[in-house]
Amino acid sequence: MRTIDTIYIDGAFVTPHGDDRAPLFNPATEKQIGEVRLGDADDVNHAVAAAKRAFPAMAHTTPAERAVMLRRLHKAVAARADDMFAAMVEEYGAPSSFTGFSVQHAAALFEDMAKTVETYAFRRTIGRAEVSMEPLGVVAAIIPWNSTLGFIASKIATAIAAGSTIVVKPSEMSAIQTQVMAQAVHAAGLSKGVINIVNGYGPIVGAALSTHPDIAKISFTGSTMTGRAILTAAAQTFKRVTLELGGKGPQILLEDADLATAIPIALASGFVNSGQACVAGTRLLAPESRLDETLARLKDHIETLKVGAATDPNAQIGPMVSQKQWERVQSYIRLGIDEGATLLTGGEGRPDGLEHGWFVRPTVFADVANQMRIAREEIFGPVLCVIPYRNEAEAIAIANDTSYGLQSYVLSSDLDHAKRVAGQLQAGRVVINGAPHEPLAPFGGFKQSGIGREYGAFGLDGFLEPRAVLS
Ligand code: NAI
Ligand code: MG
Repeated sequence: MRTIDTIYIDGAFVTPHGDDRAPLFNPATEKQIGEVRLGDADDVNHAVAAAKRAFPAMAHTTPAERAVMLRRLHKAVAARADDMFAAMVEEYGAPSSFTGFSVQHAAALFEDMAKTVETYAFRRTIGRAEVSMEPLGVVAAIIPWNSTLGFIASKIATAIAAGSTIVVKPSEMSAIQTQVMAQAVHAAGLSKGVINIVNGYGPIVGAALSTHPDIAKISFTGSTMTGRAILTAAAQTFKRVTLELGGKGPQILLEDADLATAIPIALASGFVNSGQACVAGTRLLAPESRLDETLARLKDHIETLKVGAATDPNAQIGPMVSQKQWERVQSYIRLGIDEGATLLTGGEGRPDGLEHGWFVRPTVFADVANQMRIAREEIFGPVLCVIPYRNEAEAIAIANDTSYGLQSYVLSSDLDHAKRVAGQLQAGRVVINGAPHEPLAPFGGFKQSGIGREYGAFGLDGFLEPRAVLS
């Protein structure tokens, strides 16, 4: 049993004032592996005060100095890659492909932001005006459990790049990963108070940050419902917000797609991070003319996907993060059956051979209508809905008929064709044929998938306020 009983404030690991304790579990075994002591509103006040004291000096640093800080963070985080990998395996259980990506991505984010700082136009001349891009003040970052390392890294990196100081509130379910990250941040040796990390429950620590008068900006990743609560709370003091929320990503399988290559890509996009991903492509739009072939290939390929613990290097789909999340996914599978969709494969319960752990059977629903709740709501598990379409115009209409707009996908053997379709999709990102992540390109959502963008220069814009001096 592991006990995590400190939070990181003003350059030191301190005992929180709060004394709530949350259990930590290994989702592959359901066994309790530890306990985390959580902060409260008093801890938030201390952390914000430390960040506020550190802000003036940080705001006066040059971009070159901040690039040096980011490279120190990069080195310190990269040095803990093995520990981060182990923490993610134990506490989160994602398959090794996703864990490997996450650990590498978390370190790379600091180097990417260093490059952004070096090329970003912090000073611009517009007619008679000299415009400078100024840091907003103390930033709060509120982080979900589904990609803890990457989200903490991207939000810290952007705050540092802007010349801000930051208070981070991770998920209480990610305390082991958070602790390794906090140790890495401490090892980077930035001035005290620049980076603070307070574990705690959303409605306590998250809410205290969202209403705190000395927080100038909130960068949040998580559910649309919580994003709405944060936006409402932030309105009282007009905090700036970047919100990266849910998704119900459409994947348009064009009629000219080569199904032998497209179907494995579609399943990888649908089940990325065991389906616990805002970017997951969970609605597969298939041409009626090729529907039978599509369903047959989906069924065949899904049987080759291994569900298992993160300790199994061959596992491609891991457990859900918690019992609650497992039950939520089960309830959506039941709902799909009740709504009249056809279970092509999968269903309720655990996969054969897995008696313990929050594992879900990879599930594909056929005969799904886009009006069904399983096609409209974020399920956050390995559940794919196949929705047939008659022609391309209808496919585009179905793809855009959603309250979300985070990441969409197009599968085609003709790149120009795919790009023409991509240009009609209401989404912050469109991925063609499983293209890899592009780290400096903007990331974020249209519609209820959020406000603002992360990564690169677009991400930095959201952490800065322009001041025009006219003479
Ligand atoms: P959540 O959105 O409630 O949690 C995300 C973060 O917000 C956590 O750090 C949480 O403590 C914090 N939070 C919760 N309530 C808050 C409040 N009132 N004020 C400030 N911060 C608050 O997500 P949850 O409940 O863990 O998961 C529920 C569903 O949300 C999932 O099944 C999934 O559909 C969706 N989700 C989407 C994510 C994404 O990346 N877009 C990430 C996590 C969940
Ligand atoms: Mg919640």
